Amino acid sequence: MTPRVILGIETSCDETAAAIVVDGKVIADRITRQILHEEFGGVVPELASRAHERLLMPAVQAVLGDAGLTPMDVNAVAVTSGPGLAGALLVGLAFAKGFARALEIPFIGVNHIEGHLWSASLGNTNLTPPFLALVISGGHTLLVEVEAFGKYHKLGTTRDDAIGELLDKAGRMIGFKFPAGASIDREALKATPSSLQFPRIRIPDEPHTFSFSGLKTAVLYHLRRNHRQLDTGAFDLTEQERGNICAGLMEAVADTLQLAIAPLLSSGKYTAFVVGGGVSASRFLRGRFQEMCEASGTPLIIPPFEHCTDNGAMIAYLGHLKFQAGALPSDADHGVNPSASLFAPAS
Ligand code: KG4
Ligand code: ZN
Repeated sequence: MTPRVILGIETSCDETAAAIVVDGKVIADRITRQILHEEFGGVVPELASRAHERLLMPAVQAVLGDAGLTPMDVNAVAVTSGPGLAGALLVGLAFAKGFARALEIPFIGVNHIEGHLWSASLGNTNLTPPFLALVISGGHTLLVEVEAFGKYHKLGTTRDDAIGELLDKAGRMIGFKFPAGASIDREALKATPSSLQFPRIRIPDEPHTFSFSGLKTAVLYHLRRNHRQLDTGAFDLTEQERGNICAGLMEAVADTLQLAIAPLLSSGKYTAFVVGGGVSASRFLRGRFQEMCEASGTPLIIPPFEHCTDNGAMIAYLGHLKFQAGALPSDADHGVNPSASLFAPAS
């Protein structure tokens, strides 16, 4: 029987998040982004683990309070067990195991990328496979054909930087705080079209494989050629120059994605185009995805903004979907897997 009340725990990176899902519907949801990493320009794993340790219990108490429930009302716990930072994952998994054990309820370790993939249907949109899914986050750029729940075929990924990673690194050069994706997105929307033409990198004979590190280098070379570097490492830019670079960067990212994805959508093979992960919060990219989908008559399904970046709701919801599909609870010795894949190992 599918547990009705599921507590979801997400601690794979720098968001400490918990949520309660009842019968597949989110009724409480708390996300704390650990801003302490800003000054380091990236996530410091050890500090992330310690912050999760401090923030997780209050987050769980808060969602229980918001939902008007006590721990005894929870029927199961779903927790991210990978991929992610090992120490950060451990905090969430250890908490989930302890909570489940104390209440004698099952827990299930779930895959973070799979959480992003299904987060688009959190709002109860009816997603019917086969559909095309794109997960774009700080750590992943993954194009997937979803044949059925749990049956995923990898169409393409990045050879180097994920899109979020590219935006965060480029953002640092431009002078934005970490994580920079939302700032770049905002500035790009104001300044598009850009006068700058950064490369749209394609891999010969691999139309769905991406590579974004060259784009980052192109931005760096542009900055070095035209602007003075400050002591902070960022470059000295006027607001207008910054906007122009952001727009040029987002146009290059959007075109690169469109070149790979538009032909797949036109094939008529898919019931929908589903996008998830932190970068799917980009208004710039959402606009472009919308155009692509309208051109091919494919419905576009993207989570609301609060469920694009890491959150506990997508984890609780994935737990719900897994139990519903007949998955068994995890064993007591279930461990974290920092490099967990969405795909079954080749047999
Ligand atoms: O999914 P997520 O929260 O964490 C990972 O699983 O990696 O994604 C975080 C990434 C960061 O790189 C951040 O800069 C980017 O998502 N991001 C955005 C926006 N909001 C967050 N990128 C573009 N536009 C946004 N509005
Ligand atoms: Zn994520």
